Amino acid sequence: MHGADVAICGRSAESVSAAVTDLSDGTGGKVVGRSADIGSDRQVAELFRFVDAELGGLDILVNNAGIGVFGPVGEMSVDDWRRTIDTNLSGVFYCCREAIPRFRNAGGGFVVNISSLAGKNPFSRGGAYNASKFGLNGFTEAMMMDHRYDNIRVSYVMPGSVETEFSPGVPRADWKIAPEDIAEIVLSILRMPERTLISRVEVRPSKPQK
Ligand SMILES: NC(=O)c1ccc[n+]([C@@H]2O[C@H](COP(=O)([O-])OP(=O)(O)OC[C@H]3O[C@@H](n4cnc5c(N)ncnc54)[C@H](OP(=O)(O)O)[C@@H]3O)[C@@H](O)[C@H]2O)c1
Repeated sequence: MHGADVAICGRSAESVSAAVTDLSDGTGGKVVGRSADIGSDRQVAELFRFVDAELGGLDILVNNAGIGVFGPVGEMSVDDWRRTIDTNLSGVFYCCREAIPRFRNAGGGFVVNISSLAGKNPFSRGGAYNASKFGLNGFTEAMMMDHRYDNIRVSYVMPGSVETEFSPGVPRADWKIAPEDIAEIVLSILRMPERTLISRVEVRPSKPQK
């Protein structure tokens, strides 16, 4: 936490509450959370009003929420397509359009979007996920150019396989990137002197399973 006050969200109130408890270890700043589906612009607006009330301001937005729905295009439901794009792409837009005016009022800020190597490497069964992450990369670079002179630094991280709950049922594997390694990359982005912007980071397991 490195002294920062943090607000988190997720769709499940129970998991948000458990994560707030985990993160509130007494060594960092205030930690608050609220359930919100970032695919809903209305819920995102409510979430940011909650953050205003609880933390009194915003300096950094990390767009990490994302889902993976995989399958051949000919067999993909419209619902699976929509919830992938709604979460991984539109949700990021909804959060950025709330955060950027707040950053401008405060004199600056950071957006760090968690994309994926799937944002540059298409793969079979990845149509919806690839589209969401290719789109996220283009969106992020355009936004960086829109707001760099507002003192807003916009970056994105493109990880390969990370050891998380992203693919339920896939056995745990210690060759994958650890989630804390991604957090370390985000911290490096935030620690850069004001003159310097890490615009994108690619990161992959050193020795993926053959
Ligand atoms: N794991 C990998 O190998 C990998 C590789 C490259 C990129 N990524 C990217 O890394 C990011 C984090 O994924 P992860 O690996 O940590 O997956 P994860 O363990 O499944 O975590 C995803 C998180 O996003 C939240 N979330 C999902 N949909 C949401 C929504 N509509 N509104 C609000 N919160 C939502 C989930 O909380 P709830 O379930 O409570 O909503 C959960 O906290 C994603 O953007 C993913 O695309 C992951």
